[in-house]
Amino acid sequence: SGIMRKFIVGNWKMNGTSSDLSEIEAIATMSANYKTSVDSALCLPATLIDRATSLLPAFTLGGQDCHMQVSGAHTGCVSAAMLADAGATLTLVGHSERRAGQNESDADIRGKAAAAHVAGLKVIICVGETLEERDAGKALDIVLDQVQKSVPDNAASDWLSIAYEPVWAIGTGRIPEDSDVAEMHGAIREQLVARFGIDGESMSILYGGSMNGDNAAMLMAIPNVDGGLIGGASLTAAKFEPILAAA
Ligand code: G3P
Repeated sequence: SGIMRKFIVGNWKMNGTSSDLSEIEAIATMSANYKTSVDSALCLPATLIDRATSLLPAFTLGGQDCHMQVSGAHTGCVSAAMLADAGATLTLVGHSERRAGQNESDADIRGKAAAAHVAGLKVIICVGETLEERDAGKALDIVLDQVQKSVPDNAASDWLSIAYEPVWAIGTGRIPEDSDVAEMHGAIREQLVARFGIDGESMSILYGGSMNGDNAAMLMAIPNVDGGLIGGASLTAAKFEPILAAA
C-alpha cells in the first residue's frame, strides 16, 4: 500500500449552499493540478451534488450517507441510486456523526455499503473509537469489530475504502501519536488481508480527524495510511491544497 496513489477526500458535512459553488469550483480547479499524483474528491451535501456535477463534470463528487433501500416510504432519506443519478460516483457511510447521531449500527452500515455498490458508487466506510474506548485500552478491539461487521463480504478494492477516524480527533485539533495510527492501520490491513486475500492489500485505508496542511505529510508517511478524509480543512481551496501537495 505504500506505493498506492494517495486518495484525499473532503467531507463537507452539513455545510454548503449554492453560494459555495464557486468555492467548490476553486477546489476542483486546484485539485486538477495534482491529479497526476493524487486522487481527490469532495463529499457534498446531497442538495448540491446535481449542480456541482453540471458545473464540474470532471471532478469526483460524493454523498455523505445513503439509505439501504432503492426507493420507498423513507421520508427524508436519500438512496444510493439518487446520489448516482445526481452525479455522485462515491459515498461515505458509517461516519461517526451518523453512528452516534442517527444510531446507525454496523449492520445498517454494511447494508448501506452494499446498496451503494449496487448503485455503482464507490464507498468509504468510516470507523473509529471514542476517547473513552481508547482510554480503556479498547480502541483496536472496537475498530476491528466495526470493520469486521460493517464491511460487506463481497467488498473489493476497486470500490471499497476504509476511513479510520478516531472520534476524539474529529474537529478537535488533536491527532493520535504516529505509533497509534501505525498500529491501527496495520491491524486493519491485517484483517482485510486475512478476509479478502491479496485484494486486501489494495484497499485504501484513509486517516481522518484534524488532518490539515501542517500534519498531512507526516500522517501520510505512516505505513498503511493511503490518504485522508478531511473535514474542516476541505472547505476552502486554500486549506485543502497543502494537503494535496503533501500527498
Ligand atoms: O470525515 C472527516 C471528518 O470527520 C474529520 O473532520 O474537521 O477533523 O478534519 P476534521
